[in-house]
Amino acid sequence: MSDAPFEIRAARDEDRRPLALLFAAVAEERDGIATEPPVEVEAWAARWRLEGTLVAVVDDEVVGSLNVEPSRFGYGEIGMAVAREWRGRGAGSALLAEATAWAREHGLHKLSLSVFPHNAAAIALYRKFGFVEEGRRVKHYRRASGELWDSIEMGLLL
Ligand SMILES: CC(C)(COP(=O)(O)OP(=O)(O)OC[C@H]1O[C@@H](n2cnc3c(N)ncnc32)[C@H](O)[C@@H]1OP(=O)(O)O)[C@@H](O)C(=O)NCCC(=O)NCCS
Repeated sequence: MSDAPFEIRAARDEDRRPLALLFAAVAEERDGIATEPPVEVEAWAARWRLEGTLVAVVDDEVVGSLNVEPSRFGYGEIGMAVAREWRGRGAGSALLAEATAWAREHGLHKLSLSVFPHNAAAIALYRKFGFVEEGRRVKHYRRASGELWDSIEMGLLL
């Protein structure tokens, strides 16, 4: 990954606002992540959990992020997003590779996540890293449009 255009590093305090802005921009797409607008950027920035958050950075700009939220039960829940213009260039893969290393170092035995069934890019990324489909939640997410979306639960034993 040394020729990758981005650097993957642990999130720092000054990343709070860029993290929240990226999250808000991806929420605007109303497609890949569960959160929909409006995203209160300042509030999200203030409460962002930096521990377990990795960022992909290009020229000091945060272009991707991944958060591992460890549970009390030994697994960690993942959420991630890459800025639209940076997708398909390996940032998601680089973030996930670092996240699995971080999770092992922190004693987690498993990573898990929920993904919408239409999210082909995310599902392909997770499968590439060995995540398997563990189940489906039916009409689980009510969208602002009123639609009810399923989610696929995926997991990776570390
Ligand atoms: C899902 C997401 C994080 C992937 O990040 P990315 O930087 O584009 O991922 P990568 O470039 O590392 O691609 C990883 C793999 O996904 C697959 N992939 C990428 N884009 C794809 C697409 N449009 N369709 C199908 N597969 C795709 C490829 O198999 C690729 O593997 P390869 O490197 O061996 O070719 C990104 O698309 C994103 O932020 N989407 C919006 C937010 C979101 O959906 N978050 C996840 C919620 S569960």
